[in-house]
Amino acid sequence: MSKTYKIAVLSGDGIGPDVIAQGIKALKAVSEKFEINFEFNYGLIGGVAIDAEGTPLPDKTIELAKNSDAVYLGAIGDWKYDKLDPAIRPERGLLKIRKELNLFANLRPAVVYDELVSSSALKEDVVKDVDIMIIRELTGGLYFGEPKGIIEKDGEKVGFNNMIYKESEIERIVRLAFDIAMKRNKKLCSVDKANVLDVSRLWREVVERVAKEYPQAQLSHMYVDNAAMQLVRNPKQFDVIVTENMFGDILSDEASMLTGSLGMLASASLSDKAPAMYEPCHGSAPDLKGLNKANPIATIMSAAMMLKYSFNLDKEADAIEEAIKQALKDGYRTEDIMSEGKKLVGTSEMGDLISAKILEKIKA
Ligand code: IPM
Ligand code: MG
Repeated sequence: MSKTYKIAVLSGDGIGPDVIAQGIKALKAVSEKFEINFEFNYGLIGGVAIDAEGTPLPDKTIELAKNSDAVYLGAIGDWKYDKLDPAIRPERGLLKIRKELNLFANLRPAVVYDELVSSSALKEDVVKDVDIMIIRELTGGLYFGEPKGIIEKDGEKVGFNNMIYKESEIERIVRLAFDIAMKRNKKLCSVDKANVLDVSRLWREVVERVAKEYPQAQLSHMYVDNAAMQLVRNPKQFDVIVTENMFGDILSDEASMLTGSLGMLASASLSDKAPAMYEPCHGSAPDLKGLNKANPIATIMSAAMMLKYSFNLDKEADAIEEAIKQALKDGYRTEDIMSEGKKLVGTSEMGDLISAKILEKIKA
């Protein structure tokens, strides 16, 4: 009897459940084809958790996640919660689970598929063959630095957050980034704002120190404003990028546009032990909820990352990626990546097509 992989499924809000359902279809196809057992256990996070339990991340969900081999997350957030106390907004749930599971490394691959070069807002020769791995620090920096808040000072309100990093936090993310770069084209670009920020000067110092352990790697440093510009000017110069939490949040959304759509960007959030968490980079798009229009590819691709990074099932992960490419090659497109002469399909049909490809391909 083969091992059963326990997956905590947190579909969340908006289009979260729509796209997660497609990822589950793909995993079930993998299960059938390769005779691997997955156990799916569902939990609440985000707005749906606020509605049911009064908190965006109930203890039950944390327990479920901690007792699983991996966490599969959809998306969180809805405008209807915008007026809530910030402490119980849906986003808090996401930040808290990242912290609870110590998911300090967020991997966001921006890969441009040949089939989609024309879907990008940029010129074809700029984006063709782009393959960048953005590694975003996820549990420190501007998102979590204390103190933070809004206070009264000299008769007016003052708001503040802090970008804080300990050497040990920089070291572990940078080492992981070098390890990943060594398995790719051995090029690492560390993005900071060392011309202005002290925290970035420390970041750079630590990067230089860790770099000595990787003499074969080619290291460069880039200021974040320049990196934002270079990403659209000449994205092919990048292999692996490592950066602070908020810089990574911004640059990864920017990079998604190279690929044609935010609906194409998958992610893995890793710690030094299980479970890791897998989720699309896009948000919950409440206006698309239940309309069968969302692109499920980022979510399905995130399932492939789960197989690869958490379960070491490389062949199975490749099967999912191949199936996605095949569906695109056959001309199927969701609305966000639609172009002339292609076949428009909904969320669910795209999920069915990719699952069918997984089964079919391996039968051949
Ligand atoms: C992301 C999202 C989140 C973030 C939000 C929803 C809190 O934008 O995963 O990139 O800022 O990290
Ligand atoms: Mg973001």
